[in-house]
Amino acid sequence: MVEVKGELMTIGQVAARAGVATSALRFYEERGLIASERAGTSGHRRYHRSVLRRIAFITFAQHVGLTLAEIGGELARLPANRTPTRRDWSALTTTWRARIDERIAEMERLRDSLDDCIGCGCLSLDRCAIANPGDRVADAGPGPVRWKP
Ligand code: FES
Repeated sequence: MVEVKGELMTIGQVAARAGVATSALRFYEERGLIASERAGTSGHRRYHRSVLRRIAFITFAQHVGLTLAEIGGELARLPANRTPTRRDWSALTTTWRARIDERIAEMERLRDSLDDCIGCGCLSLDRCAIANPGDRVADAGPGPVRWKP
């Protein structure tokens, strides 16, 4: 269990609670996705506890497939001068729902064609001879053509 004294947390405490490396936290901070304060004379980073939700958002958004630039754009919609409320977070929901729905559709496509020809050009499955004879689908573009949205 992570011991947290007061409202401010050290980078190590945040890393332990969030389950991300301190290097990732520094990187997020350099990209403006999270912010810290500098502690007194030591100058060490101190984070408000509310940063944990931002980090969870960043981690999840990366899983969903958003780029860091997109994530930064989303987070910029939150108030910078106070801890975001539930209402603030729900303002991000519309974009999120669309991205999550896209991701679900992609995962379903992946699941449903794991053992089928995906049009990648390998011609290694018996199904390829029927679904992609002579790699005809290459005309549609690079990559696994039958997996693309
Ligand atoms: S699985 Fe690669 S071309 Fe069919």
